[in-house]
Amino acid sequence: MDPVVVGLDIGTTQVRSLIAELSERGELEVTGVGRAVSPGLRRGVVINIDATLEAVREAIEHAEMMAGREVEDVFTGIAGTHIEGINSKGVVAVSPKGKERKVSQEDIVRVLDAAKALGLPMDREILHAIPQEYKVDEQDHIKDPLNILGVRLEADVHIITGSVTASQNLIKCVQRAGYDVHGLFLEALAAGKAVLTEDEKDLGVVHIDIGGGTTDVVVYLGGAPYLTGAIPIGASQVTSDLSIMLETPFEAAERLKRQSGCCFLPLVEDEEVIIPGVGGRPPLATSRAEVVHIIQARMTEIYELILEKIQKKGYLPHVGGGVVLTGGGALLEGASELAMEVFGKPARVGYPMGVKGLPPEFETPEFATAVGLLLFGKEVLLEEGVRPLSQRRSSWFSSIGQWLKNFFE
Ligand SMILES: Nc1ncnc2c1ncn2[C@@H]1O[C@H](COP(=O)(O)OP(=O)(O)OP(=O)(O)O)[C@@H](O)[C@H]1O
Ligand SMILES: [Mg+2]
Repeated sequence: MDPVVVGLDIGTTQVRSLIAELSERGELEVTGVGRAVSPGLRRGVVINIDATLEAVREAIEHAEMMAGREVEDVFTGIAGTHIEGINSKGVVAVSPKGKERKVSQEDIVRVLDAAKALGLPMDREILHAIPQEYKVDEQDHIKDPLNILGVRLEADVHIITGSVTASQNLIKCVQRAGYDVHGLFLEALAAGKAVLTEDEKDLGVVHIDIGGGTTDVVVYLGGAPYLTGAIPIGASQVTSDLSIMLETPFEAAERLKRQSGCCFLPLVEDEEVIIPGVGGRPPLATSRAEVVHIIQARMTEIYELILEKIQKKGYLPHVGGGVVLTGGGALLEGASELAMEVFGKPARVGYPMGVKGLPPEFETPEFATAVGLLLFGKEVLLEEGVRPLSQRRSSWFSSIGQWLKNFFE
């Protein structure tokens, strides 16, 4: 059997799982999909372990049934407003005696470690340390410093930290559901991995994931993240607003939002919509414009809070690749049009790419995180030396080739 990768996205509104086989050609082929309503999270963080583990179990079991195989470990994601991204710098001497030498892999590891030495409090941990660019002596903007001659190596690194308790609770949930956690990644980074093109990241792009409980943002400049953040408002808040303002139950407001909702007034022609009555009261007719007005106010607030974070850092003028939206909130009609207006940049909805066999009904921005977790999982397996059968021979040959090359150097 081919090696298997499992992506598990534990979101505030839904838990989603994807099972994929790493095919002989090194491609991920999705063979199982499962999802379950997620009752145990608040704003992206597990607050009820028992309820969450049931949802995790249900989502994975569904995917297992569809895939016709059982799985043991998963790659899962973490999110929430406890996540923080900071830009750090590391500096090391390449040669202890100040003599020019080629930068080695070991030097790169040391400089990244130096950048990671932040003196974090006990309750926080580093989730990701992503190099932005390197400098060797006076030569800067280097993407890969390996083998460049110099005496001093510097690295600019984006470091993403999170709460230790939040990740421990998440891991506990998955373990108690009967699975091991093979890797833990920031959900927004996973979603970005599935929807952003290399060109967009190089040009500079704002990636916004509008989930149920939180809205997450990552800004990429020159190919790497420079800003990571989250705000404690997501698309569920839009539903709550409708429910309160139109005096209708949350479920009815959710249906109304999906069927007649839009967050950009210029897109709608005025028509009548029916709001279901509560407690035996008759249904109420209202104008669609009123519904859209309520939704647009909240969505504008969400975008403006994100914009404020980006403007504080002065990154907006460097964003040449526009805005890309994921998460269920990106499915709201008008989401990209409103983003274009608020950010003054082109905007698009991001659909997950990079895997085969995903049934079309799941090829949506809601599944971006789960697909990205599969892509991260594949990288981990390949790094650990798990090779699809047909590649084992070629990797053995290439290591011999490397050995010969080193020998003759
Ligand atoms: N077709 C649709 N139209 C409008 N909104 C939608 C649609 N489908 C889903 N949503 C909204 O998307 C939100 C859920 O998004 P998503 O599934 O990405 O969140 P999550 O991953 O569970 O939560 P989080 O990432 O915040 O932890 C809900 O508020 C839901 O109303
Ligand atoms: Mg999510």
